[in-house]
Amino acid sequence: MDDKAQLIIEGKTYELPILTGSEGEKAIDISALRQENGFITLDVGFANTGSCKSSITFMDGEKGVLRYRGIPVEQLAENSTFVETAYLLINGKLPSEEELTRFSVLLNDTSLVHEDMRHFFESFPRGAHPMGILSSMVNAMRAFYPEIPERSEEEEINVTFTRLLSKLRTMAAMSYKISRGHKVIYPRHDLNYAANFLNMMFDSPVKPYYIDQDLVDALNIFWILHADHEQNCSTAAVRLVGSARVNLYAAISAGISALWGPLHGGANQAVVEMLSDIEENGGDVSPFIARAKDRKDPFRLMGFGHRVYKTYDPRAKIMKKTCDLILRKLKRHDALLDIAQKLEDVALEDPYFIDHNLYPNVDFYTGIVLRAIGIPLNMFTVMFAIGRLPGWISQWKESMDDPGWKLQRPRQIYTGLKKRDYTPMKKREG
Ligand code: SDX
Repeated sequence: MDDKAQLIIEGKTYELPILTGSEGEKAIDISALRQENGFITLDVGFANTGSCKSSITFMDGEKGVLRYRGIPVEQLAENSTFVETAYLLINGKLPSEEELTRFSVLLNDTSLVHEDMRHFFESFPRGAHPMGILSSMVNAMRAFYPEIPERSEEEEINVTFTRLLSKLRTMAAMSYKISRGHKVIYPRHDLNYAANFLNMMFDSPVKPYYIDQDLVDALNIFWILHADHEQNCSTAAVRLVGSARVNLYAAISAGISALWGPLHGGANQAVVEMLSDIEENGGDVSPFIARAKDRKDPFRLMGFGHRVYKTYDPRAKIMKKTCDLILRKLKRHDALLDIAQKLEDVALEDPYFIDHNLYPNVDFYTGIVLRAIGIPLNMFTVMFAIGRLPGWISQWKESMDDPGWKLQRPRQIYTGLKKRDYTPMKKREG
C-alpha cells in the first residue's frame, strides 16, 4: 500500500507519493515536483536520492546485508562460481546445468581478442595504467565488433554480454603480458574462466604455469564479491551514459573510468600503497590514524568507510577469511596483513571511527589476496572491473528493459552572475 507525504511550500500543501521497496525501504516520489510548484530538490553526492527502481541487488547498510537477486553474497561465495553468479545477475535466476554449460561454451567461444586490437595495446606507453588501457580498449570494441543486422536484437545483446565478459578478462591479461614485453598467452578451451585468466597472466613458454585450485577458488570468491553493488559510482555512470542510448561498450568504458578513482575501485591499490608506507615507516599505524582523523588533512584511511555500509562491509569479512585461508594454504606470510589487522584493531577502538561509523570496506583486505595470487599492484582495480562487469551489464540491461527509463539529466541550482552584457576587448579592465 503506497501512502502520501505532505510538503508545505509557501503555505500550500503538496501531496507526494510514498513508495515502499520489497525490503521495506521508503522513498518519496518527487518526479512531479517541479511541474507542480517549480521546485527541485538538491542532494550533492546523491546520498539521499534514488535514481531508479531495481530488482538486482539489495543492500542494508545498517545491518551489513548484501544479496544478489535475493541470494546472500555469503552463500554465493561459499557455493557458487563467478560465471554462475554472472549468469544469476544478468538473467535473474541461477542457471540449470544445461544453461550453465551453454553459457560457459559461449564464454569460451568469444574468449579471443581481435588480432588487430593488439596494435592498440602495443602502441600504449609501457608504463600506461591498465585501467586507462582497459577503458580505451572496451570503447574500441564497437569498432571491431560491429552489430550484425541479421541478428535479432536479443541475440545481439546476448552475444555482446558474453563477448564483453570473456574478452575483458583476456584483454586484462594481454595488457599485462604486452606491458612486460612478454609473449601473449592465448585462452585455452580446456580451462574454466578463472583458471584461464591465471594461465594467460602467468604461463610462459619457458616456465609453464601450474594452476593451483586454491588460487582459482580465491579468485572466484574475489570476483563474486565484486560482481554488483546496486547504484555505486561506476554503475551509476554506466546507467547514466547508457541512458543516452549509446552502445554498451561505451557505457561500460565509462564505468571502468569511474571505477579507476581512488575513492571508488582504485582504493584496493591505494590500501596496499598505504599499508606498504606504514611498513616502511616501521609498522607504526598511529601517524596514519592521526592523519585520518585530522579534518585539515585530506588523507583518508584507504579501505575504510562507505557511503552505504555503516557497519562492517560483509564482503570485507569474507575477504579477510580468504586472506587467512590462502596464505595458510600457500604457507606464506604477508607482513601487510599483520599491519592491516593492527590498523583495523586500533581504528575500531577509536571514538572518531566509531562516531563516524567507519569500518573496513571491500577494498581493505582484497589487496592481500591479489598479492598472494601474484597480481601486480597496478592491476588491482582491473581485477575489480572484471568482477563488476556482470553487475554493470545487468544494471544496464535492467535500465534498457524498463519502459519508464529516460535520459538521465539532473537539474541544478544556479549560483552564478546575473544577466550582464558583453564587454568589447578595448573596454575590458586588467
Ligand atoms: C568502493 O558505493 C559503493 O558501493 C562502492 C563500492 C562498490 O562495491 O562499488 O563498495 C566500492 O568504492 C568502496 C569504498 C572504497 N573507497 C575507500 O576506501 C576510500 C576511503 N573511504 C572514504 O573516502 C569514504 O569513506 C568514501 C568515499 C568511501 C565514502 O565517503 P562519503 O560517504 O562521501 O562520506 P564523506 O567523505 O562525506 O565522509 C563523512 C565523514 C567525514 O568526516 P566529517 O567531515 O563529517 O567530520 O567521515 C569521514 C569524513 O572525513 N571519513 C573518513 C573516511 N571516510 C569518511 N575519515 C577518514 N578516513 C576515511 N576513510
